Amino acid sequence: MVSFGSSRSIACSLLVIFLCACTANAQLSANFYTRSCPNLPRIVQTAMRAAVRNDPRLPASIIRLFFHDCFVNGCDGSVLLADTPTFTGEQNAFSNRNSIRGMDVIETIKSAVEAACNATVSCADILALATRDGVVLSGGPSWTVPLGRRDARTASQSAANSNLPLASSSLSTLITSFQNQGLNLRDLVALSGAHTFGLARCVTFRNRIYNDTNIQPAFAATRRATCPQSGGAGDLAPLDVTTPNAFDNAYYINLMSRRGLLHSDQELFNNGSADSIVRGYANNRAAFFRDFVASMVKMGNIAPLTGSNGEIRRVCSRVN
Ligand code: HEM
Repeated sequence: MVSFGSSRSIACSLLVIFLCACTANAQLSANFYTRSCPNLPRIVQTAMRAAVRNDPRLPASIIRLFFHDCFVNGCDGSVLLADTPTFTGEQNAFSNRNSIRGMDVIETIKSAVEAACNATVSCADILALATRDGVVLSGGPSWTVPLGRRDARTASQSAANSNLPLASSSLSTLITSFQNQGLNLRDLVALSGAHTFGLARCVTFRNRIYNDTNIQPAFAATRRATCPQSGGAGDLAPLDVTTPNAFDNAYYINLMSRRGLLHSDQELFNNGSADSIVRGYANNRAAFFRDFVASMVKMGNIAPLTGSNGEIRRVCSRVN
């Protein structure tokens, strides 16, 4: 009896250890919804195509949402949770307030996905897929998106404030910020290439165009014309002055002629350790696309909720 009891308890302990190990190593997988929601990729792609026809800026806004999701306690859809009188999320954190956009489109896609596969696909995964589709629709590379993330039941404004990098950051601050997420210098430079499209507000680059010295004078003059020394905080300018809506490697070519819009952009090409990587991507679009895709998958793997953690939200803007 004794030996039976103890062998059963050993078996139980082994099972517990095995289950814990599985949870700790839970991996995302490209096939996660192949059976449970076979039309998922098509639903997201069709909706993104329609949305981009209305708003060419959307792919830029969506990839930024994904970045701001992943850098704050992992890619768990936390950025999509709206504030309520009793809930403070991340949308009013410093880098997000009056700035992030595209949440309505993710919500629309979520409704279409729910209609086809009820309570199956997370908002975090929809955001990851929409990000990829937006890049492709803008002329960028495609990649296979690992899936199986679940949605957070919480969000953290304070983590958003401390983790999201600022336009005023130095290269060493940017490196540390990415290192804190398990991303290296090459990831930093490749992912910053997302500034190949989309817009920024005057308030984020005013200091650069009036005070930085590592800026091409004609470019500074152009930007000053629509971003006054005071006021006009919300006036918009393209992050990529040469091909503002296309996903290409012009961002790096612009950096080499000191036409980075944000101070943080130009920090990547300012006689520092990132210069050679910038030069490499400026000279070789294929190399940029290859590294960008690898870094996107890496960023998408930051601390996902898997297994029975978190939930599959019914509506992306609030917890179930
Ligand atoms: C390296 C550190 C980064 C800093 C300091 C930074 C900062 C900023 C700032 C200040 C803006 C303008 C926001 C506004 O004016 O409302 C912006 C826009 C944008 N950022 Fe970043 N960013 C960084 C990295 C990234 C990464 C890693 C991605 C994506 C992979 C990304 C994608 C974008 C896009 C696409 C836009 C334009 C969004 C739109 O038009 O709606 N950024 N970023």
